Amino acid sequence: MKRIMITGALGQIGSELTLKLRELYGADYVVATDIKKNDSEAFSDGPFEIVDVTDLKTMVEVAKKYNVYTVMHLAALLSAPAEAKPVFAWNLNMGGLMNALETARELNAQFFTPSSIGAFGPTTPKDNTPQDTIMRPTTMYGVNKVAGDLLADYYYYKFGVDTRGLRFPGLISYVALPGGGTTDYAVEIYYEAIKNGKYTSYIDKGTYMDMMYMPDALNAIVDLMEADPGRLIHRNSFNVTAMSFNPEEIAAEIAKNVPGFEISYNVDPIRQKIADSWPNSIDATAAKEEWGFNTDYDLNKMTKDMIEKLRQKL
Ligand code: SER
Repeated sequence: MKRIMITGALGQIGSELTLKLRELYGADYVVATDIKKNDSEAFSDGPFEIVDVTDLKTMVEVAKKYNVYTVMHLAALLSAPAEAKPVFAWNLNMGGLMNALETARELNAQFFTPSSIGAFGPTTPKDNTPQDTIMRPTTMYGVNKVAGDLLADYYYYKFGVDTRGLRFPGLISYVALPGGGTTDYAVEIYYEAIKNGKYTSYIDKGTYMDMMYMPDALNAIVDLMEADPGRLIHRNSFNVTAMSFNPEEIAAEIAKNVPGFEISYNVDPIRQKIADSWPNSIDATAAKEEWGFNTDYDLNKMTKDMIEKLRQKL
């Protein structure tokens, strides 16, 4: 049996992507790996192996054990922790990616890894940011993502590995909490709205960033990986987004569903600086044209769903 292997499977994207792929292809077909176990469904509902992504030998052994035909490499440090520990971030994000690409090359497997709006920088056009444009990020996370886009393209051109990637915006979900993203305010705000009816934002008013609801992000991964390679002009990575808003706009939307909800501000200079270096809104035309990218959730629909699901959860 040929299988999909996921690194970082118990993280923000992985804990939902693992379940989605198991639902689509069967539980036994999807091997979840992470550096440690937890009590999530992604851990308990199918094959799981401990893999430290900086350890190539174990990664290849696990891939061979399960006869892996697709490697989905999700293990990485997000933007704020990467800024706090840049050398560690380089080693983990780039070392892990290199090992995952090498694993895919050795197994002749298809390859996916998420890139990010963090790959753009202050000299990138801020509005409707094109697919192909200036990329001079000023964060370690962004440097890792640009280098990652290039490296994954290199593995395609040089070795013929079928590498594909998405430049994700902030991802919003009620399932697993993100670990230290700049865009995480847009997740925390929903939790705090349900728990306390108010939220103090570390991102300042007026700051626009792209966002996407997790179900749309998961569909985008599946659609991209199933896309006809003959149609792909780009590979690593495609701009994708569902919406762009600032803290006031998401707060106003939440207030429609949580009467009396209020937002206040206590700006974190580090994360604000990161946010200010990123686009206001990116253009996803290439993804739409080359593999039919689309989304179901806008701010209004996502907010209704988040609040309903979090009310059940909390
Ligand atoms: N959500 C990520 C972060 O803020 C961006 O890709 O770090």
